[in-house]
Amino acid sequence: MKGIILAGGSGTRLYPLTRVLSKQLIPVYDKPMIYYPLSVLMLAGIQDILIISTPRDLCQFQELFADGSHLGISISYAEQPAPEGLAQAFVIGKDFIGSDNVALILGDNIFFGSGFSRVLEECSSLSEGGLIFGYPVRDPERYGVVEFDDDNKVVGIEEKPAHPKSKFAVPGLYFYDNDVIAIAENIKPSPRGELEITDVNMEYLRRGKLRVQPLSRGFCWLDTGTHESLQQASSYVQAVQDRQGLKVACIEEIAYNHGYIDSAQMEKLANDMLKNQYGQYLMEIIAETKAGSIFS
Ligand code: TTP
Repeated sequence: MKGIILAGGSGTRLYPLTRVLSKQLIPVYDKPMIYYPLSVLMLAGIQDILIISTPRDLCQFQELFADGSHLGISISYAEQPAPEGLAQAFVIGKDFIGSDNVALILGDNIFFGSGFSRVLEECSSLSEGGLIFGYPVRDPERYGVVEFDDDNKVVGIEEKPAHPKSKFAVPGLYFYDNDVIAIAENIKPSPRGELEITDVNMEYLRRGKLRVQPLSRGFCWLDTGTHESLQQASSYVQAVQDRQGLKVACIEEIAYNHGYIDSAQMEKLANDMLKNQYGQYLMEIIAETKAGSIFS
């Protein structure tokens, strides 16, 4: 399975922060925002990843990640000239996806919770159809919202409904078979001028091929599109990391634990960060695995 991170957009809700800088490069506590969605794809076992961003910002992502080989993965890049919708990712990424299945994650979404790696591994072995999630939120009208019938069967998805039919929003993480390319190419822009991911999901639903997996309240899904939610995300990551002494979305650690890089490569990554807690953490991981930690 291939993976796409959609890290463009206009970021207007975060002005003036994002006037000259991509939203996905601003910090969420101790790392750039894009580390969080990248870590999700890596946890799913996906090693071939496309980052899509604006013509203005793409070069900065290239500077940050290069070809990804230092993390034992492959990262390529593509421009989205204008923010014309999430589903455009599959049109832009057509050649990259080739004949594979694909996972799409939004660059400003953060996922964290017990058992998530297992869920992700299952998702990435998807053989047919589409797989999305449903997560209860206080303000579903801001998102795509799933409608269930009396037997909890999904009967519809509405994009930003004024009167949501449930509290279950669709988070920005989607798994699809290869049909998604043709589906995305055939949908028409919505009245707001975007190729809507909800229309892609509706097409899979019409074909009887959409699964919606609920994420429980014990799970954490955050988006970081406003000043308040960005601050909350930073505080959340800080609280969890300080309490556990374990990092959220440490892509170097994930690469190491998945065997994509060895301890010598990890040490190299740590070396220019040894003055701070991030680099020291990477060194601790190496020492602990060498000593046979039970939490590897
Ligand atoms: P949005 O929530 O639409 O946010 P935005 O970044 O465009 O900012 P704002 O609403 O404040 O102006 O997008 C969600 C995520 O998807 C975000 O990470 C940007 C990304 N995105 C794209 O990369 N391309 C697109 O065409 C769209 C619509 C979003």
